[in-house]
Amino acid sequence: MTERYAVIGQPVAHSKSPVIHARFAQATGHDIEYGLIEPPLDGFEAAVHAFRAAGGRGLNVTVPFKEEAFRYCDELSERARVAQAVNTLVFGERVFGDNTDGVGLVRDLEDNLSVPLAGKRVLLMGAGGAGQGVVGALLEARVGALVVANRTLGRAQALAARFAGAQASAYESLEGPFDVVVNATSAGLSDDEIALPAQVLGKGMLAYDMTYGRDTAFLRQSRSAGARACDGLGMLVEQAAESFFVWRKVRPATAPVLAGLRGG
Ligand code: ATR
Repeated sequence: MTERYAVIGQPVAHSKSPVIHARFAQATGHDIEYGLIEPPLDGFEAAVHAFRAAGGRGLNVTVPFKEEAFRYCDELSERARVAQAVNTLVFGERVFGDNTDGVGLVRDLEDNLSVPLAGKRVLLMGAGGAGQGVVGALLEARVGALVVANRTLGRAQALAARFAGAQASAYESLEGPFDVVVNATSAGLSDDEIALPAQVLGKGMLAYDMTYGRDTAFLRQSRSAGARACDGLGMLVEQAAESFFVWRKVRPATAPVLAGLRGG
């Protein structure tokens, strides 16, 4: 029997998740259907209840519902508890919540982009939902230093205080150089450039934007400073593969799917 999954978010119409999961299902021989749910901003719970009542087995959760999904769960994985955000829901008798974003980022950086993180100086820009999901995984990858910078400094301080090994900074007081800079802000969506001290972006480092499907101001800014610049499509595919594993207990190969998306 076909088992049903979907991604829930707002907006979600242009999400690549249905294509990615369809390719995983085909490659592993799993019979699943994967759709899109776009409830009104105050309609998350009602939409999830309806999906479960119709026999849905699991959901991916994206902006802006990850914190609401965290509160919706009966049980949490350790990494979701630490992130205080959930991007993967599993429906059984109880509702289980997991977060695969951090592992998705780390796998893209280390396996696809060949940037081992152990000992590296990493700057995380943004202390919102996207940033908080990846701090735990970056620290577990044994980075040498992790600085969280945010426009609203208090939010960076609150996030860094939750993790031993993370420090907070304002953008203007950052002291580079860094080996890896990850943009987890939503500034790219409005095409705003974030002013950074000159030594933060430069040759020999990787600038990574979690946004995918567009050339953001951060990617352009990084390239003109001589950095290697990369968008977040690989993270999307890697977090999807980990969610597929949580649901189906099979880990699909990501390289052919990522190559297919980049090619077309
Ligand atoms: P998300 O779930 O995408 O992280 P969010 O929780 O609303 O969404 O967080 C948005 C992040 O982008 C925040 O870090 C925000 O900074 P503030 O906490 O200071 O608001 C950051 N952000 C959005 N637009 C920005 C801009 N133009 N310049 C700098 N940071 C920006």
